[in-house]
Amino acid sequence: MKADIVTIFPDFFRGPLDYGITRRAAEMGLVKIEVHDLRQFTHDRHRTVDDRPFGGGEGMVLKPEPIFECLEPLGLASREQRLMDRKTPGAATESVILLSAQGERFTQKIAAELAALDRMVLICGRYEGVDERVAEFLADRELSIGDYVLSGGELAAAVVIESVTRLLPGAVGNEASTRQESFTAHGDGATPDAGPDSTCGSGGLLDYPHYTRPAEFRGMAVPEVLINGNHLEIRRWRREQALEKTLRNRPDLLESVELSIDDQEILDRLTGG
Ligand code: ADE
Repeated sequence: MKADIVTIFPDFFRGPLDYGITRRAAEMGLVKIEVHDLRQFTHDRHRTVDDRPFGGGEGMVLKPEPIFECLEPLGLASREQRLMDRKTPGAATESVILLSAQGERFTQKIAAELAALDRMVLICGRYEGVDERVAEFLADRELSIGDYVLSGGELAAAVVIESVTRLLPGAVGNEASTRQESFTAHGDGATPDAGPDSTCGSGGLLDYPHYTRPAEFRGMAVPEVLINGNHLEIRRWRREQALEKTLRNRPDLLESVELSIDDQEILDRLTGG
């Protein structure tokens, strides 16, 4: 996977992507990240990347020319081609993404979609906005990492890269662990005899709680069920905990999760229904 970042703060990315899985994935050659300094695509003495908004109003708007000029030498498919490929399963290889608070909400599903690409270009928005021609004629999607406003798309780009990179085959030591996490919606493929590690896919629920040694710490004990070695009981407990946590913290997720009869019974019990 090649990831290009277009930004007016290239140094910002020295920190967040130089640690942990993204660093290891880069060292292993699974991902190659290239940061492009937008100011290098300006032609005036002041290296101007922004200007006042047409129609008046507060703040400055990122100009379109440096962004278009930055992407031109990258040899990407046309926007029309990229949009068309996205409609055909397995056909998409590239995406140009504008990070902005006005974008579609970034989710684990989109992270998985992006992880299947050969290349993604992330354009970091700034100031009060980005000239709309970037979203309309250059980017094939606009993504927001959540319903809050950041000063720019840099943090968002780092979030997207981190979440996509860890889905690349080989990036995370134990692939089963990325499959089991919260928001992973493809279920568990449980087989009756498998141990707990391979059978607790969250199936769109929040992840169940995790514990490690010591079994007792300052009077706080690890739940007994996790210590007794009964895999069936552990699996049941984890499912119940995932349901309970989802009900408490993200009840909206329950609307799009496939619930078994057992799940429904657990939820009825939890809600006193
Ligand atoms: N830029 C400003 N706010 C943002 C957000 N929530 N997501 C992505 N980019 C942004």
